[in-house]
Amino acid sequence: MSDVSLKIRSMDELDLKGKTVLCRLDVNSPIDGATGRIKNENRLDMSLDTLRTLKSQESKVAIIAHQGDSLDYHNLMPMKEHAEKLSQKLGFPVDYIDDPCGPAAQAAVRALPPGGMIILGNLRYLAEEISTFENSVKLTPERMAGTYLVRSLGPLAEAYVNDAFSAAHRSSPSMVAFQEFLPSAAGRLFFKEVSALNKIMSSPPRPCVFFLGGAKISDAFGMLGQALDSGAADAALTGGVTANVFLMAKGIELGRANADFIKSQGLGGFVDQARALLAAHGDKIRTPSDLAFEKDGQRRELPVAAVMPDELYVDLGDATVTAYSRILAEAGAIFVNGPAGQYESPLFSSGTRRLWEATAASSAYSVIGGGDTVTAAQTFIDASRLDLVCTAGGALVQYLSGKRLPLIAAMEKAHSRHHHQQ
Ligand code: 3PG
Repeated sequence: MSDVSLKIRSMDELDLKGKTVLCRLDVNSPIDGATGRIKNENRLDMSLDTLRTLKSQESKVAIIAHQGDSLDYHNLMPMKEHAEKLSQKLGFPVDYIDDPCGPAAQAAVRALPPGGMIILGNLRYLAEEISTFENSVKLTPERMAGTYLVRSLGPLAEAYVNDAFSAAHRSSPSMVAFQEFLPSAAGRLFFKEVSALNKIMSSPPRPCVFFLGGAKISDAFGMLGQALDSGAADAALTGGVTANVFLMAKGIELGRANADFIKSQGLGGFVDQARALLAAHGDKIRTPSDLAFEKDGQRRELPVAAVMPDELYVDLGDATVTAYSRILAEAGAIFVNGPAGQYESPLFSSGTRRLWEATAASSAYSVIGGGDTVTAAQTFIDASRLDLVCTAGGALVQYLSGKRLPLIAAMEKAHSRHHHQQ
């Protein structure tokens, strides 16, 4: 499969037979807070096609990947369970070593037999792989070729396959630097998702409505201005922590518990950004008219004009969901990223459940993306009623806004270098 409009090589165009392949996957999965175990396996399932293809080529496969938390920058987990689950699904062993690229990992890669596969330790153990480093240090891909990860693993590999479109917005060494010197190609899932998105983005049915929720709000904020300026989005409905930040920007006092939460997660700066977005696009950004909280073990709701300062607001209220559902029913295209509230709790699942139902029931072309978003859809509705279930969340909304993503730029550069060398 090749997509000329993408100007990216697919893995089918590389000779990978018997070669040592560095394979960057995104199997970053929602984790159950109580057990610390993976609670949705969608990204593992979606990675199987590429891994089976590599196995059929008898490649020696070193998988590099990350596992984060539901909040930004909590990246503490080993990836042993990911390896166990992949082994079960594939029917052949995928080993694990809890070292991303040190001497033990390098020895394990050198020892891979033809058809062997191993996941190396969580990439986020490395400072150079976290967003804080990316945002503060701003290395170019050329400079990243000198990072510990790239100079440790690069010389051991003969090819680089990236199947991590859902991390395409991250300009980290594992995503953009190996392409500087290794023959590089996109995996099956990457190709499939980008091709489907390009098709719908070329002429989306209008109006085009975005729903932005969840707790990882930096990605949504990063794209919203551009999406509304460029006309990619006609309206944005807010939920989750994003909605609370917008309400605070409107001067609504959500109380100490909410303000403390926003502050403790380092999200305070987004209130100013929200104010600027409202000044520029207030007519297109919808915020909740009511919110839900817990009192004496019961769900309670209040209009935002009457919220009480000591409660923590963790779901949209019924009136908001009804108003949003009407907008979704009349949309031409719907893009959903992030749940409406704390959907894992039975008390606070109804906002997400009802909105996902409204999305599925709408005649609009519907796209949902992101770990928690997909988990909620697979829990609450028949996800096959949606037009596209994308593994990407943050990357999806940024791609839709028209932003040139670091991964796409790196893959296109590798592709054009290859053509010039021929
Ligand atoms: C995602 O889930 O959006 C990607 O895996 C990137 O994860 P990150 O937001 O922790 O960088």
